[in-house]
Amino acid sequence: MANQTTEPIPLIAIDGPAASGKSTVGRLLAEQLNYLYLDTGCMYRAVTWATLQQEFDVEDETAVIQLAQEIEIEIFPVRDGEADGRHYTVLVAGQDITWQLRTPAVDANVSQVSSYLGVRQEMVKRQRAFGERGAVVMVGRDIGTVVMPDAPLKLYITASAEERARRRTRDRQAQGHTASYDDILADVLRRDQIDSNREHSPLRPAADAILIDSTDQPPAAIVNAILQMLKEPVNGN
Ligand code: DC
Repeated sequence: MANQTTEPIPLIAIDGPAASGKSTVGRLLAEQLNYLYLDTGCMYRAVTWATLQQEFDVEDETAVIQLAQEIEIEIFPVRDGEADGRHYTVLVAGQDITWQLRTPAVDANVSQVSSYLGVRQEMVKRQRAFGERGAVVMVGRDIGTVVMPDAPLKLYITASAEERARRRTRDRQAQGHTASYDDILADVLRRDQIDSNREHSPLRPAADAILIDSTDQPPAAIVNAILQMLKEPVNGN
């Protein structure tokens, strides 16, 4: 189905905690609208991967910020022939690290890396440049509050911690990693805690965000509801 509003909105901002379903919803929505899809979490993951790869201490804020400022990250839509389940391709300095962004080591350290103000400032600058192109669905933690506060449609998608841990356990197993539900639940809760309480750009819904609970709703139903919203006049006029 195509977006049938006469003036298509240039940007849809989607935020929410880990494994809330926001990435799946964002990706499907971008497909339906023929928009670009940017999962901003993959940029913080790329910086984390590079930090670990270069064997820097993730606690060394100065070194991590410098790395974030210098790192060359490219994000591409999936091309023909890349039928390995990826939803986009991430290159760092030309190297395809798409799957390496999802390892337990990156999961365990990404909240720390993304808590540094200098890392955030650099990533936000790059994300805004992407958003300026228009026709973008951007997904993250602070898109509606910090990166694109003027986005005309902001969604905040959440789900219970238990449901999010179940989803992440399934994803992990599907990718061939051993995964214990209890460990993953503990990690989800730990990351929620760090992401929501960090000093800079904590995870929270924008005042004007629409809240969606995905615990009992499949992504396709949420996408349909959003497409319906887009057909309705803005501000109820
Ligand atoms: O959505 P994700 O699990 O891939 O995000 C990885 C981490 O990056 C998460 O712990 C919080 C951080 N993040 C952020 O701080 N701001 C964003 N816009 C996106 C992700």
